[in-house]
Amino acid sequence: MQTATKTVTVLGNGIVGVAVAKGFASLGYQVIFGTRNPDSDKSRDALNAVPTAKASSYADAAKAADLVFLALPWNGLSESLTLAGPDNFAGKTVIDAVNPLLDFAAGSPKLAVGFSDSAGELVQRLLPQARVVKAFNTIVFTHMVQPKFSDGQPDMFIAGNDAAAKQEVTAILRDFGWRGAIDMGDITAARLIEPLAMLWISYAFQRQHWTHGFSLLGQAK
Ligand SMILES: NC(=O)c1ccc[n+]([C@@H]2O[C@H](COP(=O)([O-])OP(=O)(O)OC[C@H]3O[C@@H](n4cnc5c(N)ncnc54)[C@H](OP(=O)(O)O)[C@@H]3O)[C@@H](O)[C@H]2O)c1
Repeated sequence: MQTATKTVTVLGNGIVGVAVAKGFASLGYQVIFGTRNPDSDKSRDALNAVPTAKASSYADAAKAADLVFLALPWNGLSESLTLAGPDNFAGKTVIDAVNPLLDFAAGSPKLAVGFSDSAGELVQRLLPQARVVKAFNTIVFTHMVQPKFSDGQPDMFIAGNDAAAKQEVTAILRDFGWRGAIDMGDITAARLIEPLAMLWISYAFQRQHWTHGFSLLGQAK
């Protein structure tokens, strides 16, 4: 469990941003939402949902962070990180929950990148001094914190280049009620973890069912 007050900046105040912000706030973190407009209705709604949180511009929020959580849409990702200022992420752990999705309007979306690139790698290229960890992208926002299923516990797959950052994220997952993380290797493993989210999404659209998660049985000890 985290004890000292750490500041977590959550970039994006949508359903994912608010869900993880609640989780971090419940653990005693100071939460700052990075937003394009701190005075928007959406920003006010996020602050009402997490009363101890603050909201500021992407750049100010990134500057103040000890830890960053990316809850941004694919189509706003590059622009938002550029606005936030890549230097403001230097040395910081950045949890990347972004799924690179296209074509939401037409129903079940499609992946925008794959095989030779991933959103995780793009984030690491855009923030070269940050310690990016792909995580939280294969579970629905309602189950990111205290994931409870009547038929078992889900697993979280993570990837990143920095071992210490992955340990930090694994500890956060435990604090959030997960049993830990399955480390799939360096950030190029996001090429595997992001399509897993597509499997989750395809199952959801086919069955109109939005509360499921993945569990890996028979894991190596
Ligand atoms: N929904 C889920 O259950 C789930 C699960 C796993 C992963 N994810 C991934 O998590 C990310 C966030 O998902 P979400 O469902 O929370 O998204 P969302 O509700 O649409 O919120 C995204 C936030 O990003 C900010 N933003 C920045 N640039 C934007 C742009 N060009 N267009 C729209 N918003 C922009 C907005 O805040 P400001 O306007 O205040 O800047 C907005 O509140 C996505 O990459 C998604 O694929 C989602």
